[in-house]
Amino acid sequence: GSETHIEDFDFSFEGPFGAYDTNQLQRGLQVYTEICSACHGLKFVSFRNLHDEGGPALPEDQMRAYAEFYEIFDETLFDGDGDFRPATPADHFPESSLSNAPDLSLMAKARAGFHGPYGTGINQFFKGMGGPEYIATLLSSYVEEPQCAQDMETPMDGYYNTAFAPGGYPDECKGDHGEHLYPGSWIGMAPPLYGDDVEFADGHSTEIDHISQDVAAFLMWTAEPKMMARKQAGLTGVIFLTVLSVLLYLTNKRLWAPHK
Ligand code: HEM
Repeated sequence: GSETHIEDFDFSFEGPFGAYDTNQLQRGLQVYTEICSACHGLKFVSFRNLHDEGGPALPEDQMRAYAEFYEIFDETLFDGDGDFRPATPADHFPESSLSNAPDLSLMAKARAGFHGPYGTGINQFFKGMGGPEYIATLLSSYVEEPQCAQDMETPMDGYYNTAFAPGGYPDECKGDHGEHLYPGSWIGMAPPLYGDDVEFADGHSTEIDHISQDVAAFLMWTAEPKMMARKQAGLTGVIFLTVLSVLLYLTNKRLWAPHK
């Protein structure tokens, strides 16, 4: 079949009681820093947020040291000519350094992993939008091109990825009615992860599936840093309304009791 398949991972932040896993966010930050940041920016995230409770929660001195590791072009320096200086906690991460690599700040909410069935959105209702699932699956879905593409005289631009739908697709791999015979398409990003690409201080697994999930979780946090606070407020609201309903029910019974 030609449908892309996005795996439904069990992320710690899913469900009404879910929360980001601080250690996982720190590992994801490390993967982003050592690998993805070579091409992708995070221009909507400021360094000081790395210190936030409920996020990667880096100790303040580590967050400052991390920021200083980036060079920022500051237009106010050198009498308005501008110059580079180390970043401070108030600065944002840089923009993408590779022009065709999209900024990743909001990517986990810009993509959906789950659709349908038949446009009803039921899958999204039960599994969530699937943004982080999409990213984690994408990173580990580079496989060998199908034979139809290998037989072409001019090879396809890009890299065959079974989770990426909107990329290039050769006629040679289409069926009689133009349908895609193989899932996914050709993406412009070379496989960024192979497994063992990073070394974690805590000795956590660096298998490709695990580091893909770690960086996807981190990108969910960059896209929705206030998710924990939102869930907390929602839960408080539900409890409050439940208590209120019980009280109103009892009040109602008492008020009308003499008239029955
Ligand atoms: C696209 C993630 C590393 C270059 C993307 C997309 C994501 C992503 C989510 C968007 C796919 C879509 O449009 O649905 C990551 C992560 C990385 C990483 C998490 C690190 C683990 C890199 C590196 C490079 C790169 C190192 C450059 C050498 C690109 C380019 C695109 C892209 C050029 C656009 C591809 C296209 O639209 O065909 N990446 N990336 N990425 N990435 Fe990366």
